[in-house]
Amino acid sequence: MSTCWEFLSRQRIWTIRNVSRLRNSSICHSCKSVQARRKLHISSDGTLEIKVKPYYVTTPIFYVNATPHIGHLYSMVLADVLKRWEVLRGSRQAILSTGTDEHGMKVQRAAELQDIPPKALCDTNSDSFKALAKRANISNDHFIRTTDPQHREAVEYFWARLKESGHIYETTHRGWYCVSDETYYPDSMVEHRVSSVTGNSFMASIETGNAVEMTEEKNYHFRLTSFRDRLLQFYEANPGWIVPSNRYAEVKSWVENNLEDLSISRPAGRLSWGIPVPDDPEQTIYVWVDALVNYLTAAGYPVWAPRSERDQGWPADTHVVGKDIIRFHAVYWPALLMALDIPLPKRILCHGHWLMSQLKMSKSVGNVVNPFFAIDRWGVDPLRYFLVYSGAMAHDSEYNNDFIVERYKKGLQTGLGNLVNRITRPKQWKLRDAIVAVTTVPSEGSDPFANLTVSMTSGQLSIFTNAIDIHIEELESLVRTVSHHMDELNPTRALQEIMAWVFETNRFIATMKPWHLALTGEKVLLEQSIYYAGESLRIIGILLQPFIPEKAAMVLDRLGVSPDRRTLQDAKLHKDVDYGTPLVSLGKGAPSSLFPPLAVED
Ligand code: ME8
Ligand code: MG
Repeated sequence: MSTCWEFLSRQRIWTIRNVSRLRNSSICHSCKSVQARRKLHISSDGTLEIKVKPYYVTTPIFYVNATPHIGHLYSMVLADVLKRWEVLRGSRQAILSTGTDEHGMKVQRAAELQDIPPKALCDTNSDSFKALAKRANISNDHFIRTTDPQHREAVEYFWARLKESGHIYETTHRGWYCVSDETYYPDSMVEHRVSSVTGNSFMASIETGNAVEMTEEKNYHFRLTSFRDRLLQFYEANPGWIVPSNRYAEVKSWVENNLEDLSISRPAGRLSWGIPVPDDPEQTIYVWVDALVNYLTAAGYPVWAPRSERDQGWPADTHVVGKDIIRFHAVYWPALLMALDIPLPKRILCHGHWLMSQLKMSKSVGNVVNPFFAIDRWGVDPLRYFLVYSGAMAHDSEYNNDFIVERYKKGLQTGLGNLVNRITRPKQWKLRDAIVAVTTVPSEGSDPFANLTVSMTSGQLSIFTNAIDIHIEELESLVRTVSHHMDELNPTRALQEIMAWVFETNRFIATMKPWHLALTGEKVLLEQSIYYAGESLRIIGILLQPFIPEKAAMVLDRLGVSPDRRTLQDAKLHKDVDYGTPLVSLGKGAPSSLFPPLAVED
């Protein structure tokens, strides 16, 4: 009977000791039917799933009071990695939405300060966010602007339904409004501060340090408090809804202790730059209600035939947000959706902040790094790599050029670049030859191990065979581990795991010493070393695609992996036996390497 590659790799019986059995790439009937089931989306109970809801991931939409900085790029990159991972899995369509939040006091004041019409400021800065998404290779399907007519319609419709459902009432509101954070704070959340620059004293939010101002005005309120129990029940029933868990605990405690009804409009006399309340042009819709609805706009709301919201992605699978806006997404947003019986997003990924000298990088403070300059300096993928590898979900991270240099050298140059060179460049071996030798069926009666060893004791040989066995076993668990971290919404751990395998494969090569095996004529061991190191790199290259798409493609091109063999299904040992002939010239010398020396290092 012929050997089934799928079956054998699942059984983890690939070692040098049975290499001669593994020379036939046919797939048995039962493995074929598993593959076929995957393609047709036939569920385990046998019913045919006609349409799978697309995976839908979002970034926050960013205020256009200024141009983007590294923090905004970070959220975009995380969301992009999640989308690209889903594409790699290949089981459903994936949609990514990003955009700009253009209304509200913050933007209105920024325009006043620059003495330009608000729309002109929005156009310029929105273009800059859009250009950043393009420059950073963000694969967004939508770029929503809250000044878009179709978004305005969605907000007006959303408001009308809220009003109809009886969840809105009018009252006079007195409280501390923070323009920078676009939110009211209760008395318990503000304090006196003295400006270190002017010496003036002012009232500020304890949480963010931003100035607040006392306002008293008539506005519409949303009965947020009436959702207290439903929210708490929902959190209780869905402990994984907010990732990571420290934010989940904060949100729960906030709802238990601080919930108040939410002011959802401002007098038009104060806030003119926004969407007027339908039927009451004296009031302008609160910018956060306007902004949150963008996630629905991108999914086609409100033109939803029954259940058709699913076709365009709703409910969102993941909202990626920074920790500064978790309350808006994890408290106000689900309550607003509950009020209209719209299904809630499935999960919220809340990441930490990038700091500059311990202070949050922020447009308002001005301590920002221009992401365009950073990309020009480091390249798109090295910067994406640094942000994902060194950023964190549960805590903040310091942004520093020295750290980028360190990561570049250790992970990309010495780690990945070196591994690619060691496998593909040396004259003493050819990857393709190793693949052919290890995976070709031996002719009848011939002994594939005839040349196994000419000069080793069995003790020496077992050091090599053990190294190969261990390498194979760990390689087989890599994809599982990385998938697990991605399922847990932890792209950082996933990338660190892939990179740990890069370092491990370099160690494997150092143990096997293929240059020495070539010298001493240990042909079979040499082929095995190069073959398994090549398999590791092929799988690493496939897994790295969501993180560093351009560089991963270059790795796979150099390995000669066909573009249609780069999915997660291909990321299995022995799955591809046809690669090994580079699709591009490998070049010569350090400058032609994947990760050349940095031009300027400071
Ligand atoms: O809050 N580190 O927009 P915004 C990491 N328009 N991420 C950062 C960051 C930093 N230092 N600074 C900003 C708004 N971000 C609203 C959102 S959504 C319906 C409306 C990222 O321009 C992070 O994602 O202030 C943060 O939550 C978001 O930008 C805030 O951007
Ligand atoms: Mg902000």
